[in-house]
Amino acid sequence: MIRAFAHDSAVAIVITDAAVAKPGPTIQWANRAFACLVGRSAADLVGISPRFMQGRETRRPVLDHFAQALAAGERFHGYLTNYRADGTKYVAEIDCRPLQNAEGRIEHFIAFEREVTRRRGRPWGGMVSRFEPREVSNEALTPALMSLGVFKI
Ligand SMILES: Cc1cc2nc3c(=O)[nH]c(=O)nc-3n(C[C@H](O)[C@H](O)[C@H](O)COP(=O)(O)O)c2cc1C
Repeated sequence: MIRAFAHDSAVAIVITDAAVAKPGPTIQWANRAFACLVGRSAADLVGISPRFMQGRETRRPVLDHFAQALAAGERFHGYLTNYRADGTKYVAEIDCRPLQNAEGRIEHFIAFEREVTRRRGRPWGGMVSRFEPREVSNEALTPALMSLGVFKI
C-alpha cells in the first residue's frame, strides 16, 4: 500500500528496518525522490545506514533527539544538515515514524524528507517557521501525506 503511493511521490521517502542501535537502522527501500535528494541511486541505498548523509555541520544534539525518539518508538520531526554524495550540503526537514505490524510491534521506520532553506531574518514561531521548503511545497503533498499530517505540526 505504502509503495503504491510512495513510488512516484515528490516527497523523498525512505524505509528502514527497526534496528535502531548502530550499525542499524538499515535502508530497505527508498523512492526516486529520495535517491534524487541524496544524490545516489535507490539500489545503492539499500543495505546502508542513513548516517552516510551526516557530516561536520550535522548537529549532534538533534541526532541524539532523533536516536531517543527511535528508541522510544516515537515520531521524530526535525531539521538536519546533511550532505549529498557529491559533498554538497543541504538542510533536510525529516518526519520519521514507526510502522507497526498487526501485533503492534515496530517492524520498520518510514521517513518523509524534503529540502528546506533557512528563512532570512529572525522569524518568530519556532523551528517550523525558521525554514521553508525548497521545492516540495505543502500544497504539493499528496492527499495521503496530507492526511498523515506529514510536515505539519
Ligand atoms: C527512516 C529513517 C530515516 C533517517 N534519515 C536520516 C537522514 O536523512 N539524515 C540523517 O542524518 N539521519 C537520518 N536518520 C537517522 C540515523 O539513521 C540515526 O538513527 C541517527 O544518526 C541517530 O542515531 P545515532 O545517535 O546512533 O547516530 C534516519 C533514521 C531513520 C530510521
